[in-house]
Amino acid sequence: MKKVLQDHFFIRNTRIRNRICVPPMVCYHWTDDSGIVSDRHVEHYRAMARGGAGLIIQEATCITQEGRLADSQLGIWDDSQIAGLRRITEAVHAEGCPIFVQIHHAGIVGIAEHALCPDAYTLRQGGTEKTGVKMQQEDIARIQQAFIDAARRAYEAGYDGVELHGCHSYLMCQFLNSRVNHRDDRYGKNPELFITEIMDGIRNIVPEDFVMGIRLGAFEPTLADGIRHAKALEAHGIDFLDISYGFTGEAEPEKPADFPYKDVIYAAGEMKRQVSVPVFAVNGMRVAEDARGVLAQTDVDMVDIGRSTLVNPAWAADALAGRDTGKCLDCSVCRWRIDADQCAGRKLLQYKRQME
Ligand SMILES: Cc1cc2nc3c(=O)[nH]c(=O)nc-3n(C[C@H](O)[C@H](O)[C@H](O)COP(=O)(O)O)c2cc1C
Ligand code: SF4
Repeated sequence: MKKVLQDHFFIRNTRIRNRICVPPMVCYHWTDDSGIVSDRHVEHYRAMARGGAGLIIQEATCITQEGRLADSQLGIWDDSQIAGLRRITEAVHAEGCPIFVQIHHAGIVGIAEHALCPDAYTLRQGGTEKTGVKMQQEDIARIQQAFIDAARRAYEAGYDGVELHGCHSYLMCQFLNSRVNHRDDRYGKNPELFITEIMDGIRNIVPEDFVMGIRLGAFEPTLADGIRHAKALEAHGIDFLDISYGFTGEAEPEKPADFPYKDVIYAAGEMKRQVSVPVFAVNGMRVAEDARGVLAQTDVDMVDIGRSTLVNPAWAADALAGRDTGKCLDCSVCRWRIDADQCAGRKLLQYKRQME
């Protein structure tokens, strides 16, 4: 049956109230080195829930201090952080919206001087070079346990589920990508093993209806690799696949010339043809017509509306009601990474609404 934006559906027992998802988007500088939730986080997530999103996936929230991308990133590495995280889940649930939290370790891309990586891979970025510290068995066990402990905290804080951060160059996708991971042990021969062992650990400690999905790279480095990973994780019980870019420096994106949306959306559609769990697509959808077009052309289950929801926290409600949603203006550097108050798209929308 043709999917439409206003459909509801279930992932385990969690009711997703429509097909519009707010994907994870870090808001640096709203916390400090403690990683504890601030009032600004609570109001930000409350506004997007009130704004009609079907599901919110909270920004990349760190499972260890060493695995952070920045020293002002939300944390879930300590029980003292649970009370603050619970403020977010309560605010979002009060608006009738479910919320998952993305749990994250950056691996070689992180701020640690001697950053962990599955292998001694050399990352070249912006004229700099950094070589990862190859993880030993005890490092692997420690980081896996940190993911499992983070999922336990997420459950205690009231989230409906977790999304494992398995893409965008971070630790899990460093294991999955064969150009990064040359290990000759079982974590090299079976690149999904680092993740599936974490999944087993999480399943052992959370109730059955707690959702566990993954944000997975489509091109890792090729689409055929991405599809293989998706099938392996589905066979191991993953609840949903949120498809984005993989270890970007090593990716080989592809799409037919006449496909009107991003290559990564095409890839999500190809994956959907090969798995039966819900698949989410993301990137570059700005207005309701884009979201409807992607549902119609790919059969994915969920459309992630990222920056345009930063512009307009009520993007979902406006799209469903046929109102002007406003849209992200694709600035060369998204201001939300530096100073959210400078978002040009949000300023323009506010100005237009004042003029109406
Ligand atoms: C400010 C900002 C922060 C982001 N943080 C995350 C993150 O924490 N985790 C993640 O998986 N992706 C993150 N992303 C990527 C978005 O989730 C999304 O995939 C991307 O913005 C493309 O979708 P869009 O065109 O709808 O914005 C971030 C993007 C932006 C602009
Ligand atoms: S700052 Fe620019 S790129 Fe970022 S959400 Fe706003 S309009 Fe879009």
